Amino acid sequence: MAILTDRVAIVTGGGLGLGRAHSLELAAQGATVVIVDPSVTLDGKPATDTPAQQVVNEIEAAGGKAKWVNLSVTDFDGVEQLVKDVVDEFGSLDAVVNNAGITRDKMIVTMAEGDWDAVIAVHLKGTFNLIHHVGAHWRALSKAGTPTSGRIINTVSGTGLRGNVGQTNYGAAKAAIANVTIISGMELAAYGATVNAIAPVARTRMTDGGGNFARGEVAEGAFDAFAPGNSSPVVAYLASEKAGWINGQVIRVDGNKLRFYHRWRPSDQAYEPTEERILETSEIDLALKGLYGAFPFGQGDRRLLLDS
Ligand SMILES: NC(=O)c1ccc[n+]([C@@H]2O[C@H](COP(=O)([O-])OP(=O)(O)OC[C@H]3O[C@@H](n4cnc5c(N)ncnc54)[C@H](O)[C@@H]3O)[C@@H](O)[C@H]2O)c1
Repeated sequence: MAILTDRVAIVTGGGLGLGRAHSLELAAQGATVVIVDPSVTLDGKPATDTPAQQVVNEIEAAGGKAKWVNLSVTDFDGVEQLVKDVVDEFGSLDAVVNNAGITRDKMIVTMAEGDWDAVIAVHLKGTFNLIHHVGAHWRALSKAGTPTSGRIINTVSGTGLRGNVGQTNYGAAKAAIANVTIISGMELAAYGATVNAIAPVARTRMTDGGGNFARGEVAEGAFDAFAPGNSSPVVAYLASEKAGWINGQVIRVDGNKLRFYHRWRPSDQAYEPTEERILETSEIDLALKGLYGAFPFGQGDRRLLLDS
């Protein structure tokens, strides 16, 4: 049964890869889909083709409803206008999938300022722009007494949560989006909205470059663990009214395996001096090496490792 009937969703970066798959799935689940994508190359330069329009054509050919808006998520005022236009044209705006992304991989010492700024702008500021403007719309509805079931689905990455050499810009943006997910989820809950994120794994032009997820020998009709559409049913679920119970979470979607990410949390073990005093330099070295397992504590010091 369709779970997004009568709902209107924005999918950023819906022209290619994961965003294309999310757009098709959301439309198949009954949503009207607005694809926001200026059509750019992997590193964010203008591209000549218009894949987002092809996705709209595909959705319409299947009997669904969709529209392409040629706009960059980095355009704060443009996104404000977008939210107004979508509500005016379709009557509501119920979900936003923040998926748009670019990469400009470089080691930190050779990364140009522009490579840092461009990647942070698309991922992090773009995510902020959409949540800010659609959140304000949901707040206005809520204050006027109209209940909302707004849903934001952000996109993070293992790089942001575990690190990856050559991707400080991308990883910093993705880690920050994980935190934006937590905090904006807390804030928007007051209006009946939720904010969650997926951390997908897929063969797209973003990952094909390194040949990471080559199709290999997947037999025709067999499950393809790296197909971009694998995370799309999860996105559709999170965009639906059914998902109101979950908020501020990052969900790892690996093929057809679902997991959730623990948040940063302090270790169970702690070092604490026996007296109430500031730490001394000499003991910090020992204490940290002890905590990280790099130095065996002597029997006498072990009593200082307490559960916290
Ligand atoms: N492919 C993976 O394995 C993987 C893993 C983790 C996270 N992600 C994330 O998933 C998202 C989609 O990645 P993908 O692999 O499908 O990449 P992709 O390059 O195939 O598609 C990205 C899409 O975003 C659009 N886009 C770029 N800049 C934009 C902007 N300023 N405004 C609006 N649209 C813009 C592009 O035109 C393109 O259509 C990204 O956020 C990426 O970081 C991907």
